[in-house]
Amino acid sequence: MENIFLPFSKPSLSQATLDEVNACLQSGWLTTGPRVKKFEEKLAAYFKVPEVFSLTSATAGLHLALKALNLQPDDEVITTSMTFVATLNAIVLAGAKPVLIDIDETLNMDVAQLEKAITAHTRAILPVHFTGLPVDLDPVYTLARKYKLRVIEDAAQAIGTYYKNKMIGSFGDTQIFSFHPNKNMTSGEGGCVITRDKIMSKKIRVLRFHGIDRDAFNRFSKEGSQLYDVIEPGFKYNMLDLQAAIGLHQLDQLEEFIEKRTHLAKRYCNFLEKLNGITLPRLPSYPHRHSWHLFTILISSEKPLLSRDNFMQHMKNLNIGIGLHYQAPHLFTYYRKQFGFKEGDFPNTEKVASQIVSLPLFPDMTTQDQDRVITAIKQFFGKTA
Ligand SMILES: Cc1ncc(COP(=O)(O)O)c(C=O)c1O
Repeated sequence: MENIFLPFSKPSLSQATLDEVNACLQSGWLTTGPRVKKFEEKLAAYFKVPEVFSLTSATAGLHLALKALNLQPDDEVITTSMTFVATLNAIVLAGAKPVLIDIDETLNMDVAQLEKAITAHTRAILPVHFTGLPVDLDPVYTLARKYKLRVIEDAAQAIGTYYKNKMIGSFGDTQIFSFHPNKNMTSGEGGCVITRDKIMSKKIRVLRFHGIDRDAFNRFSKEGSQLYDVIEPGFKYNMLDLQAAIGLHQLDQLEEFIEKRTHLAKRYCNFLEKLNGITLPRLPSYPHRHSWHLFTILISSEKPLLSRDNFMQHMKNLNIGIGLHYQAPHLFTYYRKQFGFKEGDFPNTEKVASQIVSLPLFPDMTTQDQDRVITAIKQFFGKTA
């Protein structure tokens, strides 16, 4: 049993998905085409929005949404210091400066610190729904209205998350989702953007495919014209039909996937709550539905032998996959050099980044798999299960 590697995450791919991918391959149309169109329509119905833009990744979505704001070098975008570096990179690649704020005990942006981070240069707030737990959005949108700022939600980890009684993506300004294979649903790689801003919609439609004013399917379909115009140099961020073939059936199963994740997350909490040396996820008091993209714990023991890094080695020795989400991005060389970030700037994030690990969690994980993880954790802390 212990010789079999237990991954930290694994997509659950149904027979319908395998058949759809096969049908796509056999159809001869692999790039953007009818399956992408169908996937976008299905996503729009899921979120109850008129339009969804599919892309090659959430990183592409963040890049395009921020690019659409025509940011200038002095412009600032406020985000959390606890996120994947893609969030910060997108701000920089769109031409602006990332301004970070520290996290609270839920590991999400501490919205109480938001107002004092706003300056005359602030153009947008970029909250990240970390692990699939929604940020407290009401104060974010209140401040955005007060200071006339855009809100670009990094919902890469948050498909199926609810804030109060509303699904993330079904309200607000702009949201970006990821379909990376570790996420709650996948299209191999992929992502999408939802926006209620007409100018942004137009920009994303054009910029995702070279700046051309119509997409490949229209151009090559019988009724489409071969002619097109380029109104701005764009990117190559269009989703493939092959990716959509995977995503179509994943979306059908998303609720089931979230239920399974939730069941396993609750089980982790029940079995680990009495263990000294770890901190379990802290949930906010406002109503929400966590999508449990990640189940993170903090290895918070003071004993050097019980460090996070030793814990990771222990799990590795037992053939159990563990994730590290994330190192504090402001301490990466580029961000130190370019923006002068240094140790001590965001103490909560730095502490969490030194203690955090993501435990295995995926829909096809069995309770036996999970018991193996729980036993390994107890062993590390010197208790047999
Ligand atoms: C918070 C956050 N933002 C952005 C991304 C980028 O997503 P993608 O891999 O689809 O580009 C990720 C991926 O893990 C993420 O977790």
